[in-house]
Amino acid sequence: MNASFPEIVAINLAERSYDIVIAAGALENAEHYRALPAAAAALIVTNTTVAPLYAARLRQALLPQFPEVHVVALPDGEQHKTWQTLNLVFDELLGHACDRKTVLFALGGGVVGDMTGFAAASYMRGVPFVQVPTTLLAQVDSSVGGKTAINHPMGKNMIGAFYQPVKVICDLDTLRTLPPRELSAGLAEVIKYGPIADLDFLAWIEANVEALLAYDLGALGHAVKRSCEIKSWVVGQDEREAGLRAILNFGHTFGHAIEAGLGYGEWLHGEAVAAGMVMAAQLSQRLGMIDQTFVDRLAALIRRAGLPVAGPRLSETDNAGRYMELMRVDKKSEGGEIKFVLIDGPGRAVVRGAPEALVREVIDACCLRV
Ligand code: NAD
Ligand code: GLY
Repeated sequence: MNASFPEIVAINLAERSYDIVIAAGALENAEHYRALPAAAAALIVTNTTVAPLYAARLRQALLPQFPEVHVVALPDGEQHKTWQTLNLVFDELLGHACDRKTVLFALGGGVVGDMTGFAAASYMRGVPFVQVPTTLLAQVDSSVGGKTAINHPMGKNMIGAFYQPVKVICDLDTLRTLPPRELSAGLAEVIKYGPIADLDFLAWIEANVEALLAYDLGALGHAVKRSCEIKSWVVGQDEREAGLRAILNFGHTFGHAIEAGLGYGEWLHGEAVAAGMVMAAQLSQRLGMIDQTFVDRLAALIRRAGLPVAGPRLSETDNAGRYMELMRVDKKSEGGEIKFVLIDGPGRAVVRGAPEALVREVIDACCLRV
């Protein structure tokens, strides 16, 4: 893809439809904000890392459109995805007497995006918001589809709302400042789309992983576009996860247990999902749904992307038991039964339970020894 030429991916959800704009430099192009709802004020919600890099540029681009543009920089990190941090956004909105037309802008990664979306869903019972994702993970996944949330110490993303943004602006240039570890974490969510929905894309990632890791904006642009197209196709059919949308959680049942079990922020979300995908693939193989060759192929790609292929130990005494306990606190669980996204033949995913003994076997086989 030519990174400078804007690509548009549409999310079709009747009156909640919107466009995802993908281009280098998109964030500072005032054109992209011109058709937004008119309002007296905008609030840019960002964090202390992203604010010095991009907040002034975004503010400058918004000033022709909004008479007042305020900025609030939240503390950075998954461990701050909490009620207390969310309240800082409300403090800012109320402190500036922002009315119900105020437009919020989420400038940052998935943590800022999820929290800003939840703030927008609940401030005065709902104000418009725009996603301006600045991590690869947020551009390929979290900024799209309207899932918003904060964490609870007992479970990841347990408190939140479905609330769609009115626009998503993916500026590929922002990825240049992303640390390599964060770029790899984003690749986990890119890789995810292959085994669940698109084997051609999986092969493309295998052929382009070095270019992606080298911050090639053409390759990153294609990865963002194709990921958003697949997510758009899924969300367009099942916005509120009545069924199909759960396939986007491939690797997340194990992954969320890793994040909560280690303490939020210890492993990055993408790292936990990466190990979780290998575990879910192993479980699929043990259930006879795919062969070991496909598991090995997926694990090899995850390793090449600089991501873990084994989970951490969450307990020295009963590691599998601890995973099981954490996985029961999952939004897919029904009546205490844990549901997994499994690969039902390469390129196709299903959501189903699995015998506990088999799950424990996979955890024992797929966790680090130290
Ligand atoms: P993050 O938001 O913590 O961002 C990662 C790090 O990169 C942070 O330190 C951030 O300050 C920094 N950063 C952001 N942009 C930068 C840039 N351009 N240059 C330099 N540094 C930059 O993490 P993430 O990986 O973006 O998102 C993970 C979160 O997203 C998790 O909380 C996860 O639950 C959530 N998520 C939500 C959905 C959804 O559908 N809503 C989907 C996937 C993940
Ligand atoms: N990231 C999973 C979803 O949006 O459904």
